[in-house]
Amino acid sequence: MSKIVIRNVCSADCEAIINLEKKVWEKIGAPVVTEELFHKWVSTNPEGFLVAVFEGHIHGYAYLEYIEFTPDSFNNMQLRKFLQSGYEGTGHCPSGNTMNGLSLAVDMPNRGIGKLILQRIIQLGIEKKQDYLIALARLPGLSKFLETVKEEIKATTPIQKLALYYAISCVNLIRGNMSSRLLDITIPTHIKVTEKDPVLCRFAEIMKMSLHDVFPSAFNDPESCNMTALMVYNFKDSRGG
Ligand SMILES: CC(C)(COP(=O)(O)OP(=O)(O)OC[C@H]1O[C@@H](n2cnc3c(N)ncnc32)[C@H](O)[C@@H]1OP(=O)(O)O)[C@@H](O)C(=O)NCCC(=O)NCCS
Repeated sequence: MSKIVIRNVCSADCEAIINLEKKVWEKIGAPVVTEELFHKWVSTNPEGFLVAVFEGHIHGYAYLEYIEFTPDSFNNMQLRKFLQSGYEGTGHCPSGNTMNGLSLAVDMPNRGIGKLILQRIIQLGIEKKQDYLIALARLPGLSKFLETVKEEIKATTPIQKLALYYAISCVNLIRGNMSSRLLDITIPTHIKVTEKDPVLCRFAEIMKMSLHDVFPSAFNDPESCNMTALMVYNFKDSRGG
């Protein structure tokens, strides 16, 4: 059986990555990486640009940069700044304490490719003695979940709050981790989540990342109702310091 190989990107991968992006993101309704951005990322942090190769073809990739990050004082404005600079190729700080996962996509889902890429990222974070890995998890199950919520509740509760209830409930469903601030939030009894979100719960379950907050997406993502969850992996916890 063929093996999935994770390796660093090279400039010749441009066309394959753009095609993969189109396959994955266009059907979701989100923008795709351009040739210009691809080359910007390759020259900014090639070490954090990983591709997954199966039977000679690229079927997944991730890109991350290093930033300075403190979970407790983090807010929406900083998040926007990180994302904007990440997509402009100006946010990378080689001495930063945190890996900022800017993109992850797989065009052959449920075959273990995403998990292998994420495991390699954790390995890289350990080698680079990072404090945190942060990633914004899409919430593709949110739109379906909101169909189950009564109209009067949707009319009176901001979408960001409903998304946060959804994200917390998903994490509870898998007995995952969340920041202590979220533990004090009482989920209204009418919020009933019975299915694990396909992206948020993957980050929480296979990566043991903890849910920190929910923010409006930086790009159009109708499946996730334009909401995204900030997930944090704490390397300090895993090395016990
Ligand atoms: C999200 C995505 C990257 C996942 O990649 P993938 O290759 O399909 O994921 P994998 O096949 O490696 O996942 C397998 C693991 O996830 C687990 N898993 C599957 N669905 C899950 C869910 N809803 N909750 C928790 N774990 C789940 C499986 O049990 C398996 O773990 P195991 O080996 O321990 O049993 C991919 O589906 C994708 O690119 N989606 C579209 C773009 C996207 O949303 N990117 C993420 C941006 S935040």
